Amino acid sequence: MVKVNEAEVTIVPFDPDKHDWKVVQKVAYLGNTEPVQDALLLQLFNLRLMVPLLMSSLAVGISTSLWYLGILAFLSQCLGFYLYNMEYVVKYQLFSTYADYNEKFTKFWTTSPNSLWVMEYQGNIIGTIGLKLDDKYEWEITRVGVKKNYRGNKLAKLLLGTAFNHSKQNGYKTITLSVSEVYGHVACKLYTKMGFKVSEIFCMPIPHFPVLPLVPPSKMVSMKKDI
Ligand SMILES: CC(C)(COP(=O)(O)OP(=O)(O)OC[C@H]1O[C@@H](n2cnc3c(N)ncnc32)[C@H](O)[C@@H]1OP(=O)(O)O)[C@@H](O)C(=O)NCCC(=O)NCCS
Repeated sequence: MVKVNEAEVTIVPFDPDKHDWKVVQKVAYLGNTEPVQDALLLQLFNLRLMVPLLMSSLAVGISTSLWYLGILAFLSQCLGFYLYNMEYVVKYQLFSTYADYNEKFTKFWTTSPNSLWVMEYQGNIIGTIGLKLDDKYEWEITRVGVKKNYRGNKLAKLLLGTAFNHSKQNGYKTITLSVSEVYGHVACKLYTKMGFKVSEIFCMPIPHFPVLPLVPPSKMVSMKKDI
């Protein structure tokens, strides 16, 4: 962990002439990429998923009297779920209303009124925050991320402060955000501390696959704050 204080960092608007967008994007996507690892790990311990998987593998092993076939069945089903998760993530990204994926990143964040800020420390990009008009025409905070080694230095609070100031200066009345109930519990604490209140709890509108009933859909929390 690197100890950093407020005075040592600068927060500047994202400038594609100055910042490498791929580096910025990596930090901005932390809220999406980190939960994928957590989700995969959680599924390993998900009894609703693992019990049927183990039982069916056991049935294969017993019915064929070949124990390795049972193990093979188990491993191939695990691989199936892993691939399913990957597909789920890719589909989510493709269907997402966030239009800043991949090559669209720079265009999206340099098109008014969307704004993205970059936190710099000793020449490195260590944090980001974005403010965009969402599909309900509400101002939404998104792409909040601080690189792992720099967390716990109140830098996310500083990033949120920048977005609040911008909102005040531009006369926005309310700002909103969404965060995963399970994977975003740290972020939830941060937002609550910064004055956001829960306005809605909903499930992700992700295409449903036959296996989905085994895996509870991830709940999302919408939060609002008056400026
Ligand atoms: C969420 C995140 C941005 C927090 O960044 P950070 O710079 O470490 O946060 P701060 O140091 O400013 O902490 C601010 C508040 O958040 C809460 N918080 C931060 N880290 C926490 C932790 N590990 N556990 C519990 N609460 C925590 C605390 O309330 C803290 O205030 P306090 O220190 O006065 O009690 C960072 O963990 C991150 O980038 N996570 C991955 C990406 C992500 O989840 N983004 C949000 C998507 S919606």
